[in-house]
Amino acid sequence: MPELMVNIDHVATLREARGTHYPDPVYAAGIVEMAGAKGIIIHLREDRRHIKDRDLAILRDVVKTKLNLEMAATPEMTKIAGRTKPDMVTLVPEKRQELTTEGGLDVIRSAAKIEKVIKAAKKHAITVSLFVDPEEPQIKASSNIGADMVEIHTGAYADARTPRIRERELKKVIQAAALGRQLGLGVNAGHGLHYHNVREIAVIPEMHELSIGHSIIARAVFVGLDRAVREMIELIGDR
Ligand code: PXP
Repeated sequence: MPELMVNIDHVATLREARGTHYPDPVYAAGIVEMAGAKGIIIHLREDRRHIKDRDLAILRDVVKTKLNLEMAATPEMTKIAGRTKPDMVTLVPEKRQELTTEGGLDVIRSAAKIEKVIKAAKKHAITVSLFVDPEEPQIKASSNIGADMVEIHTGAYADARTPRIRERELKKVIQAAALGRQLGLGVNAGHGLHYHNVREIAVIPEMHELSIGHSIIARAVFVGLDRAVREMIELIGDR
């Protein structure tokens, strides 16, 4: 069964909504770790709309499970990763106007740019994962340019409006996971996963880690962060 990695960006979103110093994602990380999650994920966006450089610096110091930094494949972010040394980086496409990450990387078109980041990260012994749509050419390209892992984008599965589309999208994720493993890549998945759609993804045998943020932080508003994390761990069977 996969391990749960919790994205805590939206704790910072709540803080930034009022420009206060609370709630602090650093406190959230401690609660998430103590509830049993296997790691913490943050996305340091170019516009710093939620997570700030200060959060990354402190979290690097205090997170004792695993810190996964989501970032765009830019020279600025590569420099920051080299300096702060997260355990792992996940490269994602980034557009300024988007509400959240909207699609996977185009690893084929951006191969040169991504390869540069992979090489730089490897010098610092940082594991590199590429966030990709469940498409064969993208998985193959990820392997060809030396990524350690792929994170399969589950957004289309999560957003499916009919059972037929959902089934079709699930099949794509299953096939992409099998191909990733076959090529020797670590296989993770994430985006749009919540308490009612996560099981189908969690039972895919190749899944190593699930990256889940919004649904856990949303549930935490009602039941508390500790319980929200424990309930997700129970659902995905990560023990
Ligand atoms: N994986 C990636 C690459 C993401 O960009 C995000 C959103 O920040 C997630 C996973 C988590 O998605 P969600 O917040 O919908 O659980």
